[in-house]
Amino acid sequence: MAEIPNIKKRGEIKRIGVLTSGGDAPGMNPAIRAVTRSGIHKGLEVFGVMNGYQGMIEGNIVPLTSDDVSGILQKGGTILKTARSKDFRTEEGRAKAYKNLMKLEIDALVVIGGDGSFMGASIFSKEYDIPVVGIPGTIDNDMYGTEYTLGYDTAMNTVIDAVDKIKDTASSHGRIFFVEVMGREAGLLALSSGIACGAEAIIIPEADEGDKDLQKYLKNYKKKKNSGIVMVAEGDKAGGALKLAERVTSDYPDLDVRVSILGHMQRGGNPTGTDRVIATQMGVAAVEALLDDQKSIMIGYVNSKITHVPFNKTVKANRPIDHDLLDIQKALNKW
Ligand code: F6P
Repeated sequence: MAEIPNIKKRGEIKRIGVLTSGGDAPGMNPAIRAVTRSGIHKGLEVFGVMNGYQGMIEGNIVPLTSDDVSGILQKGGTILKTARSKDFRTEEGRAKAYKNLMKLEIDALVVIGGDGSFMGASIFSKEYDIPVVGIPGTIDNDMYGTEYTLGYDTAMNTVIDAVDKIKDTASSHGRIFFVEVMGREAGLLALSSGIACGAEAIIIPEADEGDKDLQKYLKNYKKKKNSGIVMVAEGDKAGGALKLAERVTSDYPDLDVRVSILGHMQRGGNPTGTDRVIATQMGVAAVEALLDDQKSIMIGYVNSKITHVPFNKTVKANRPIDHDLLDIQKALNKW
């Protein structure tokens, strides 16, 4: 059994910690900058926790000044580094983390990450009565309760840029490219970038329409364009672009098929204007929420406005797929 530290009686918030957790996303740095600068502006002391929850367990926590966050607004990745901490899933790990926060008299936390990170935050906040506010950061844009998660716009533009290039070579050779886009459980990045790239079919885990489009496209292939893009979400039911392309090659041996897995390049790059602005809004809103006595909530973004979503709502479900976008894809198909 873990030795449970005494829980400090809550007073006024004077010191806050900020950390990034889970997969990185462009926009995390602008959010760290906004939390730090707006926190200092409100009279708080701000600390950066390195390597996500793991840094909290290991006591890897550093003070952040306004100067420390200069020049990061335009940078991808996260200056605080990130990790998926297994230790934080244990009572022992969380007890160590709490002790380290108490050593530095840190009263509250801002966690920038995805639903796994908020699940940990929610448990920790309840166990130790410590206010935690989350900022959604994941290129997947799959979190319930928010229309936007940091990194999505940048990642979508990275995919568009890559696919535009792939289309040049696809058309020169008359080839069909299966392009795999990140999204282990979510297809929104594949769906939106597929629409933006004019993909012939978009295969995502949440819907079967893409498979039907693909079959129609392949049957009519010779009569239509002689090259094409099939956008495939990493987590599709067929098991990814490679498997799907293998199946198509065996069914249609005359077709010239290639696969391009875009991979982790989608997680890098300078954040777009949209990511910088929303990250800044969310960072400021997270500090305000803490000072407003909010706890266990995620900062959301709905209808271009900041919202507050309880952790227990956002961690229970994934964002449902946008069926209007699926209908749009159907309406634009030529086969
Ligand atoms: O950031 C979310 C995500 O990009 C998923 O779409 C993807 O499946 C996963 O992270 C990959 O994570 P890792 O870098 O840990 O392999």
